Amino acid sequence: MIALRGAEEIGRIRSAGRIIGATFGLLKRHIKPGVRTRELDRLAREEILRLGGYPAFKGYKGYPANICVSINEAVVHGIPSERKLREGEIVSIDIGVKYRDYFADAAMTFAVGEISEPARRLMQVTKKSLEMGIENAVAGKRLSDISSAIQKHVESNGFSVVRSFVGHGIGTGIHEDPEVPNYGKPGMGPRLEPGMVLAIEPMVNAGTHEVEILDDGWTAVTADRKFSAHFEHTIAIRDGAAEILTV
Ligand code: MF3
Ligand code: CO
Repeated sequence: MIALRGAEEIGRIRSAGRIIGATFGLLKRHIKPGVRTRELDRLAREEILRLGGYPAFKGYKGYPANICVSINEAVVHGIPSERKLREGEIVSIDIGVKYRDYFADAAMTFAVGEISEPARRLMQVTKKSLEMGIENAVAGKRLSDISSAIQKHVESNGFSVVRSFVGHGIGTGIHEDPEVPNYGKPGMGPRLEPGMVLAIEPMVNAGTHEVEILDDGWTAVTADRKFSAHFEHTIAIRDGAAEILTV
């Protein structure tokens, strides 16, 4: 069952989303060579709490940190550690916030200092694929119109879409119905209706779409160890263009 959220509920998700937006604003200033990923985790936690939210990933299915920090070949769910960021790396940060019983979820990939041209293209294509997904998140279309727009943009640029992780509905739980794959044929699945709230999150690999989980039980990495990027927004379906709630 896909929940339809009223204005009051969407307002709370928007408040959670704004806390995420502000936290990204803070982290962006600290993402440079030499910073430890655990320091980013600490900064994020303090900012989220200061703004009246709660870091939603902490303890979720036993997840041990406040945010996910996934470097280079890490796709998602990287655990913050003593590891320092280095020039030329790309780092994906995923943040979930709970605010007055409602959740928002967003992710972005950042460059650490100067990065290679292929890495920059991977980030740009991933970000653009999320935008194309959001453009298709319109009442009256079907769920897989989002998925297919993402896949088309990614594959026409020579990259691959991760299949074993998907986007999701979000609201009073962090993962709700429906699943939102980043691949598929258009015109399938439920019809989109005003009040649906979705986390759309393409994970895009430079090489193979296959991923592996490291021995820490969390970190998903590309099977060929080529780079991966991740962009995610929580959005609300409306009549006309979707509203992005995580800004
Ligand atoms: N944005 C990630 C997702 O939707 C959140 C992972 S939560 C974690 O899968 F706590 F498990 F990391
Ligand atoms: Co998500």
